[in-house]
Amino acid sequence: MTCNVTNKADVLAKNIAEILKNHPSGYSLPQPFYKDKRYFDIEVEQIFCKEWILVGVSCQLPEKGNFFTLDIGDNPITIIRNQHNKIVAFHNTCRHRGSKICLAKSGKVAKLVCPYHQWTYELSGELLYAGSEMGENFNKGHHGLHSIHCRDVGGFIFISLSETPADIDDFFVDLETYLAPCGIHHAKVAAQSQIIEQANWKLVMENNRECYHCAGSHPELVRTILEWDDTRDPRADEAFAQQVAQKQALWDSEGLPHQLKTYGVGARNRLSRVPLVEGTTSMTMDGKAASTKLMGKSKLADLGSLRFLHLPNSWNHAMSDHIICFFVLPISPQQTLLTTLWLVDKDAVEGVDYDVDNLTKVWNATNNQDRKLSEDNQKGINSMAYTPGPYSATYEYGVINFVDWFNATMQQNIALDKK
Ligand code: FES
Ligand SMILES: [Fe+2]
Repeated sequence: MTCNVTNKADVLAKNIAEILKNHPSGYSLPQPFYKDKRYFDIEVEQIFCKEWILVGVSCQLPEKGNFFTLDIGDNPITIIRNQHNKIVAFHNTCRHRGSKICLAKSGKVAKLVCPYHQWTYELSGELLYAGSEMGENFNKGHHGLHSIHCRDVGGFIFISLSETPADIDDFFVDLETYLAPCGIHHAKVAAQSQIIEQANWKLVMENNRECYHCAGSHPELVRTILEWDDTRDPRADEAFAQQVAQKQALWDSEGLPHQLKTYGVGARNRLSRVPLVEGTTSMTMDGKAASTKLMGKSKLADLGSLRFLHLPNSWNHAMSDHIICFFVLPISPQQTLLTTLWLVDKDAVEGVDYDVDNLTKVWNATNNQDRKLSEDNQKGINSMAYTPGPYSATYEYGVINFVDWFNATMQQNIALDKK
């Protein structure tokens, strides 16, 4: 039985690779990629269980024993700051009979204790206690928690469930450099939200990869955000080029890296500092800083935004006063979890230096508008009449990049499986 299931999955994976190989760049994907549970399972296996996934920030875990949990497909995972002050990740499954160990979304523990029969693990995963019932031949040393590759890169936590994760150190090294002046090591989580969108995870990402819809859908966001992050964008005008040149001189004088860099096929990673709308300094309703305690090295408020993208699942904006982080995780073919974190300087006092409503208003509204767009997109894709449609090469180049990246990564990972 197991063999048949595996063979069927292998055949389907091979078919999917073939479909993707023949898929023309610049077009949305065929319907099953947004709808079919069998396709979804293979994507989770080939993308989310193999690639580096961005899951959180180090200031979510300020002290030893702080943890948070998440699920990647059917895999419950714990991210924890261990007794050596290092952030590590484990499969959240007990080495006795497999129970989930950490049941809460987040918390703080002295040790990891399984709720079923109380096997107890050190924060670094070693099994400390299994009672005397396991017999004298039982070897605790062979029953530590299964660890997961975990990297804290400039304050952002990446994990990979692969045994041999891809080397993306070129991006990690630059990310660390770009983030170093942003104050994330002296930050705290001021607010967070989790919403479940009734849409495939790729629709959530595709929607994020273009601002074609911004003018029509995001009245709060367009007060401060500029659509382009590149002066070579065919739509960028002379005024934008001048604004960028002026800001780049300022960023240079403040020692802030700003060059646009992209990494990997289909711009798996994108890193750049960009200006906000002239006269605004932060993504708030009035365009003013949401927190009076600025973050990081520079004492200037008007620094624009350091943006970075990590495919498959995250985009981020670091401004002078706060940082906004977005993490996407697939739940089912038509359900996606979006987690948003708002970070401020850890000395900022709520109600004195910042107001949570003011801090979160723009992106709470934007997230909600994007959720509706993605959900309506999903409903239309579910139609028997749906066929892949063309993306705009100018307005939607980011979506083309994303689908190209998805296509190439799926083909590559499925091919590696066959070896
Ligand atoms: S399953 Fe964890 S102690 Fe039994
Ligand atoms: Fe949007």
